[in-house]
Amino acid sequence: MEYEIAGWLSVIFRFVHVIASIMWIGNSILFTWMELNLIAPKAGDENTDKDLLGQLDMLHGGGVFHLQKRVINPGAIPAPLHWFMWQSYTTWITGTLLLISVFYINGGAPLLDSSKSALTGWGAIGMSVGGIIAWWLVYDTIWRSKLKEVPALAVLLSFALLMTATVYFNQYFNGRAVFLQVGVMLGSAMTANVFVHIIRNQKKFMKALLAGKPHDLKYGKQAKTRSMHNHYMTFPVLFMMLSAHFPQLISADWLSPILGVIIVSLMLVKFFMNSRYYFGGWLVAIFIVFLIACGLIKVFLIMPASTSDVGLTDVQKGAKLFVAQGCAVCHQVGSSQLAPNLDKLYNSTVQLADGGTVVADEAYLRESIERPQAKVVKGYPASMPPVSLTKEQLDNLIAYLKSR
Ligand code: HEC
Repeated sequence: MEYEIAGWLSVIFRFVHVIASIMWIGNSILFTWMELNLIAPKAGDENTDKDLLGQLDMLHGGGVFHLQKRVINPGAIPAPLHWFMWQSYTTWITGTLLLISVFYINGGAPLLDSSKSALTGWGAIGMSVGGIIAWWLVYDTIWRSKLKEVPALAVLLSFALLMTATVYFNQYFNGRAVFLQVGVMLGSAMTANVFVHIIRNQKKFMKALLAGKPHDLKYGKQAKTRSMHNHYMTFPVLFMMLSAHFPQLISADWLSPILGVIIVSLMLVKFFMNSRYYFGGWLVAIFIVFLIACGLIKVFLIMPASTSDVGLTDVQKGAKLFVAQGCAVCHQVGSSQLAPNLDKLYNSTVQLADGGTVVADEAYLRESIERPQAKVVKGYPASMPPVSLTKEQLDNLIAYLKSR
């Protein structure tokens, strides 16, 4: 029942989450684009409108949007004035609900990897929540400190600390959960940027304007730095959120360096996309970044594992295979949406599509994996693909399934 309710809720949360994040990221990209394309008034122009910061014309929907970015005069505050924050808040709220209904369910079991550690569930939830809060505090402190005057150093330090967190979580969490945890840490910091810096700074100068004071551009500048951080985090965070679709990467042994390459290369891609108005070689640069990133990831994928299977029990080897063979993509822990939930399957009675029942003994498990179409579970399409496994791998997988 717990799984059933969680399944329904996760459909609703996921859908709203996807829509809200598309709206938020779409805005981030469009606003940055407008910022880059604003034409500033030329110095010495006759009749220069002194409040004009820049302007821009855009063709869309059968007309021209003539857009101006202006300093606001206390006596002439435009109304209605549109604020942008709810896409971000909605993304974060539904994302958090999704995190709870998919990963924190069942005492956090879906976060863990029994081949890595014997941590119990609640500890995992504590680590995950702690990581999200700690990352915001660390990141925000760095970018409030004097270090922000040397951006390259602040970026390097932030990145090094993020990588340290990745290595730490990788000691306890399964690959999918590591990618997601880092994505949630960055995504939560993005919403906190909106809440703590962007909106609050905008409120400050709006309050001053209402009190009749002039528009202080200082606040806008502070808000803009955090907007740019958010802008550069969008591509990596999107990748991490979608990482369940890339089983090869999330099951890799060298997970942290791969994640590092992905984060850096996607930020560089965004950087070169933004440089296209003044840098002719931007497309070539993106292509080079792409090739180098793929090359590095390939090297990490074929590099011998840092931890070998020696010393692992059959159940632990099976748990690793379950992720590496892509089983976990459909049979997601704690969810029975795409494929049956395999928890406590062993020796239970399974309803079949043809109306019969079968006891899930070892022979049934073996047959389900070797010839998935032989007996199809009621309520599911016969969509499980056959896999080629060695006898030992099959034995390990079965040992693992029996242990769940
Ligand atoms: C493309 C999605 C997909 C993948 C990948 C996948 N499965 Fe399945 N699996 C299903 C579906 C759907 C069913 C239910 C229909 C059926 O019985 O064929 C199922 C059924 C099962 C069952 C029987 C469950 C029951 O409740 O009786 C077992 C056991 C199983 N899969 C194990 C695995 C293992 C092990 C792997 C990895 C080698 C794997 N599956 C990969 C989709 C998948």
